[in-house]
Amino acid sequence: MKNDDEIVIDPADGLPVMKVGPWSEDKHVALSRYVDAARKARAKWPYASFIDLFSGPGRVLNRESGVISDGGVLSAWRMSERGGVPFNEMFIADADAGSVEACSARLRDAGATVQAYVGSASKTVDQVLGKLPRGLHFAFLDPFNIEHLDFEIIRKLAARPNIDLLIHFSVMDVQRNIGGDFNLASSRLDAAAPGWRSKLRLREVPKREQVGAYLEYWESLVTDLTKMQVAQSKPLFVNMNKGPLYRLIHLARHPLATKLWNTAALPAAKQQSFPGM
Ligand SMILES: C[S@@+](CC[C@H](N)C(=O)[O-])C[C@H]1O[C@@H](n2cnc3c(N)ncnc32)[C@H](O)[C@@H]1O
Repeated sequence: MKNDDEIVIDPADGLPVMKVGPWSEDKHVALSRYVDAARKARAKWPYASFIDLFSGPGRVLNRESGVISDGGVLSAWRMSERGGVPFNEMFIADADAGSVEACSARLRDAGATVQAYVGSASKTVDQVLGKLPRGLHFAFLDPFNIEHLDFEIIRKLAARPNIDLLIHFSVMDVQRNIGGDFNLASSRLDAAAPGWRSKLRLREVPKREQVGAYLEYWESLVTDLTKMQVAQSKPLFVNMNKGPLYRLIHLARHPLATKLWNTAALPAAKQQSFPGM
């Protein structure tokens, strides 16, 4: 049994991998399905980029099965290439320098053109936007927790006219903290949804509906500010005990992108339904 802090090396390339729960696989499948579905749209543009500000090292180890596989950005790159319309550039960043190094090496080895940055997403977003040419852009935001999903990151990315975003929204994090944080002077839920404590009448909301109320408020902030549409399909991923973990939320301005995500996200039968989340 491996210690959880121990760095695991992928024997295939000698580079580190990130340990993840089995539920990560469905996230990568949904992301790849969407990249594939958007192939024709990408083909219409002379330039298309993929942006991942929380890239990790590029390969993941399933804690349960011990299987090592591609993480989000590598899955996305390979799918774009397999479909014959590869992203022109892959912009990756992570707070962990070792992860950025490993992820860049893997992407380059797989044939991608990579722009890589080390730092918190709140900072690297400016570096990426400073280098991003005109074109079609797709940003995947996959932080460990809601605290890192700074609203400013979304605001800045959304300022680009032709971009869509796929966001890992940690339902579990909100559920754990919303009750306790409501009365605090500052909360780890503030960065994602500024003003939530003054705008939500949480005491009047039944406990099981509080996460849903926070998510609804976050969506209203995002759509008001960015004029992007939240896709109807927001698959909820659960842990082994069926406990809710996160949703994938898609934001776009172009109705075709929304439609593609709605069909590409995991089939309805695999999606979990939790009232109020
Ligand atoms: C959920 S993992 C990313 C997994 C990856 N997207 C995948 O699909 O394989 C989150 C990553 O965010 C990084 N991270 C943590 N805080 C960060 C921050 N403030 N800004 C950027 N990256 C951060 C971690 O080092 C970790 O690699």
